[in-house]
Amino acid sequence: MKKIIIAIDGHSSCGKSTMAKDLAKTIGYTYVDSGAMYRAVTLHAIQKGIFKGDQLDLDKLKQDIRNIRITFIKNPATGRSDTYLNGQNVEHEIRSMEVANKVSPIAAVGFVREEMVKQQQAMGLSKGIVMDGRDIGTIVFPNAELKIFVTASPEIRAQRRLDELIAKGEHATFEEVLHNLATRDRIDSTRKDGPLRQAEDAVVLDNSNLTIQEQNHRLMELFGERVKP
Ligand code: CDP
Repeated sequence: MKKIIIAIDGHSSCGKSTMAKDLAKTIGYTYVDSGAMYRAVTLHAIQKGIFKGDQLDLDKLKQDIRNIRITFIKNPATGRSDTYLNGQNVEHEIRSMEVANKVSPIAAVGFVREEMVKQQQAMGLSKGIVMDGRDIGTIVFPNAELKIFVTASPEIRAQRRLDELIAKGEHATFEEVLHNLATRDRIDSTRKDGPLRQAEDAVVLDNSNLTIQEQNHRLMELFGERVKP
């Protein structure tokens, strides 16, 4: 069967990652969480004092960016890929509210995107990949055979993310999470480089009222259509 590239884009916390991960597992493809890469750069920036309050030390970030290596390594205990920043497992830290609150300004920096897009394109060279993010179908893989644009209502997204954070033992309120999502969506959609935008040839999937099974069924239908000889 021919191998394709599947690009999944959409708003913050609409379940893209879970969807992309499950799909990749079912069809035996590699899953790449491009958001984890921007989150890892953000963690690096926090650790190295690149943030001065809300201001970014762009010179230092520019110096560092080429030395930031982000890799994904399968964790045998969970069966999932963990994110590594220069050889260190940062999967837990990058999901914190602190990183979520700082990631969008970092992801709006042109030279950060340039470097991440380069690394993402290299990962897709032999196809057989599912990648999720904001600009995958528009900038990273404009020729992807299957593009999906996912969305859901802001309240449903906030509740899903809150449940996830609480399950991990993080402290957050519904209002805080809702505000974070709205702010990220605004910055992500209005930035100059690689804004969050639906590709013209993307299939829209509003999963506000879909069960996981219904969603998976729809994805498998779309995949089947694209790989049909
Ligand atoms: O999972 P969630 O929706 O919270 O976000 P994520 O996929 O982990 O991405 C975190 C942030 O990284 C987003 O809010 C964007 O600012 C940025 N991002 C991006 O700019 N481009 C991508 N391809 C993926 C993420």
